[in-house]
Amino acid sequence: MQLSFGGLKAVDGATLEVEPGKITALIGPNGAGKTSLFNVVTGFYKADGGAISFDGGSIMGRRPHSIAKRGLVRTFQLTKSLGRMSVLENMMVAAPGQAGEKVFAAWVVPWMINRQEKENHRKAIELLELFNLIDKKDDYAATLSGGQRKLLELARALMMEPKMILLDEPMAGINPTLGARLLEHVGELRDRGMTFVLVEHDMDVVMRVSEHVIVMANGKVITQGSADEVRQNQEVIDAYLGTGGGAVDEALDEVFEEDARG
Ligand SMILES: Nc1ncnc2c1ncn2[C@@H]1O[C@H](COP(=O)(O)OP(=O)(O)OP(=O)(O)O)[C@@H](O)[C@H]1O
Ligand SMILES: [Mg+2]
Repeated sequence: MQLSFGGLKAVDGATLEVEPGKITALIGPNGAGKTSLFNVVTGFYKADGGAISFDGGSIMGRRPHSIAKRGLVRTFQLTKSLGRMSVLENMMVAAPGQAGEKVFAAWVVPWMINRQEKENHRKAIELLELFNLIDKKDDYAATLSGGQRKLLELARALMMEPKMILLDEPMAGINPTLGARLLEHVGELRDRGMTFVLVEHDMDVVMRVSEHVIVMANGKVITQGSADEVRQNQEVIDAYLGTGGGAVDEALDEVFEEDARG
């Protein structure tokens, strides 16, 4: 797949495959093109070339909501406007069948809308309970801690009942306890058959949770394999350390630590 910004090739021929029902980590140095790839796959950026298929069909060139409907979603940072809504409202607006469809349908079949709304409400409450956010349901989302926000972001994505979720640095800047809880949820959802791709700089996290690791650098996939295989790989070391050499292991640890700090 290709994606350019002016002369800059953010994604430059990266080709990858994600196995259903697994957690795949996507790693690589800053600027490797990981977020760009997510944006293309979920329809937020238009690729210059390549192909994307999901669940047996092409999703190339489709709009984000259409891709989400098919079951592929990414999490989003809560924006300012979402911060001014309650936690429960945040969940409700993330549900399928919102906005445009609603105005028309409410006029034709009010009972159907009611049923959908009730179902969404039930789902929202269930997820907020699962994510330990139920006591916060009437609070403004902006008042949540960083970690609680990340949990809410994941919970919102789950309102769509997706088959696959792309997580872009879900642990960044949150406290370890909430981070661990978030990972626990991801593991449980995976056990129920959901597919995850996780962009994460902390190799400890990557090693712990992912079944497969894909490494990107300069818009390309440079290697992939198990977390252990990838950690030993010279190309990975080079990608993180530029020209490599020296006390590689130590430096590698340091770089990963720095990355984890952001
Ligand atoms: N909207 C944009 N406009 C112009 N250039 C962009 C845009 N988004 C990303 N880029 C550039 O594309 C390249 C890839 O960026 P991207 O954000 O995808 O990297 P990344 O792997 O997610 O990095 P990080 O680990 O720092 O999040 C970078 O050189 C970046 O500056
Ligand atoms: Mg990024």
